[in-house]
Amino acid sequence: MRILSGIQPSGALHLGNYFGMMRPAIELQEQGDAYFFIADYHSMTSLYDAAQRRQNTIDVALDFLACGLDPVRSVFFRQSAVPEVVELSWLLTTVTPMGLLERCHSYKDKLAHGISPNHGLFAYPVLMAADILIYDANVVPVGRDQKQHVEVTRDVAQKFNQTYGETFVIPESRIRESVAVVPGTDGQKMSKSYGNTIEIFGEEKATRKKIMALVMDSRTPAEPKPDADKNIAVQLLKLVAPAEVGTDFEERLKAGGLGYGDLKKALFEHYWTYFAPARARRAELAANLDHVENVLREGSERAALVARATLKRARRACGID
Ligand code: ADP
Ligand code: TRP
Repeated sequence: MRILSGIQPSGALHLGNYFGMMRPAIELQEQGDAYFFIADYHSMTSLYDAAQRRQNTIDVALDFLACGLDPVRSVFFRQSAVPEVVELSWLLTTVTPMGLLERCHSYKDKLAHGISPNHGLFAYPVLMAADILIYDANVVPVGRDQKQHVEVTRDVAQKFNQTYGETFVIPESRIRESVAVVPGTDGQKMSKSYGNTIEIFGEEKATRKKIMALVMDSRTPAEPKPDADKNIAVQLLKLVAPAEVGTDFEERLKAGGLGYGDLKKALFEHYWTYFAPARARRAELAANLDHVENVLREGSERAALVARATLKRARRACGID
């Protein structure tokens, strides 16, 4: 089984990225041969600062390695280090119906949030399809917001296969339903583009402040809160604390008598402890950036071998060999 996922270097990684994608992806490393990459080409649809992209790319590499990506077992690389994917993206674009892209929620969502669209943002799912197909991936672990892009990938692959003969493996998404959508500080989906994130490796004081500022309702501590399971702090606590701690806080809110301040304090403490080992690993890695660069370079060499073979197959299929 080949596993593949990517993440954009468009800002500091947050709890949504970690629980929705990174942790499930890292766990899958045990079950097959895994390809993980930093989607720097994709980040160009929303980030226009070259220095920032360079820095974010290193930060994502550090975050992923610190969280347990094993570069010996898995292939870890920069998307742009294997530019063959852009050529494949063109081949795919010619069999992608406009309507398929027009229906993409993530595109429509970004427009709704005031992002002015460019062609790259519109065509983004085709590049993502190329990412997945060029590595012959079977399983794509992602958060729920990316599920539709994997559906697009399947449609495009099928269309190419029907048009030019069997060329691509048809992939499927793998979504961890329990953490399919991690809520942000305002209760919407946590996302870099909504400014509602709690970072994985946030600075201590700033993150405590963010957590203590989580928006709650105005009910007094004494009041019972039967809807406690929907409380953002409870939902986040359940991710970073042992199961019994999460349910205990939920029960106490339901019963009445627990203040939101105490709940948030507990959330911060558990968050801080949960990521302590990864934080220490990240500091070690950050002091050895040459090692990180080597990991990415070796990863791109391994990835390029697979990508070149697939691209050759696709070119031959459509008669441009
Ligand atoms: P963002 O929305 O912050 O820009 P990305 O789109 O870069 O995040 O997402 C990277 C990965 O993390 C994707 O697989 C995505 O599904 C997952 N992910 C992002 N936010 C969340 C969330 N709030 N809950 C669950 N998964 C998420
Ligand atoms: N579009 C994904 C995101 O924003 C990142 C990504 C690019 C990706 N190519 C991919 C994810 C291929 C999985 C497979 O999160």
